[in-house]
Amino acid sequence: TVNGSMKPYTYKLFTMSSLQEAKKIAAHQAVDNHVHSGDLVGIGSGSTVIFAVERLAQRVKNENLKVQCVPTSFQARQLVIKHQLPLTDLNISPTLDVCIDGADEVDSNLNLIKGGGGCLLQEKIVASCSKKLIIIADYTKNSQKLGDQYKKGIPIEVSPMVYGPIQQKIEKLYGGNVEMRMAVMKAGPVVTDNGNFILDWKNFNQDVDWKKINTELLLMPGIVETGLFIEMASKAYFGMPDGSLKHK
Ligand code: 5RP
Repeated sequence: TVNGSMKPYTYKLFTMSSLQEAKKIAAHQAVDNHVHSGDLVGIGSGSTVIFAVERLAQRVKNENLKVQCVPTSFQARQLVIKHQLPLTDLNISPTLDVCIDGADEVDSNLNLIKGGGGCLLQEKIVASCSKKLIIIADYTKNSQKLGDQYKKGIPIEVSPMVYGPIQQKIEKLYGGNVEMRMAVMKAGPVVTDNGNFILDWKNFNQDVDWKKINTELLLMPGIVETGLFIEMASKAYFGMPDGSLKHK
């Protein structure tokens, strides 16, 4: 309590638990609807995917579901190992049946911002090798236009030798501001699973052709990948604050 009042803490706990519950509802539904026995499954990264992997493990135990998993990050690999799910990789299993992943924002056309956790490169590779990309998220990720809800910017993975020129070029060509993602305490840059840096492009113009911009960005030497996932997702599930589910 603060000065005898329960209010601030009660409110915060409620919000946190409703978000967690929303992630769980979306993750469980996606796993139940889209994963079948014998499937090769891409495992995305982030906090929502934790619930999807838990559900997969439950189904393996309860229904004798057979799956093999391709993780999209160090975190995802650790999760798969923790739950004793079989691991494979893209060179052994080049075409996956489904990839289940989170997102930072999903617009009305199912275009996405991803990479809030810095795993965009492997996430995009695994999604590109999957027949379906199914997105799982809480209600805060559902929007009309990219940038409506998510204010942390579009993540762009770059080679460490060229982050400065790329920052300048993006700001000059498209506007907004491009910031280097720093580690906690700002001790140094965030380094991805692939040894690269992440730039976050903020305050961008929302009324643009994202497909064209994404293609242009990918032609810039030194940009390894962008967090713009354009025309990749097949479906998105959103857990809602009242415990219901929305999809698009
Ligand atoms: C990591 C990602 C995540 O999928 C995205 O940030 C969503 O994470 P969360 O499920 O924790 O909200 O793209 O690179």
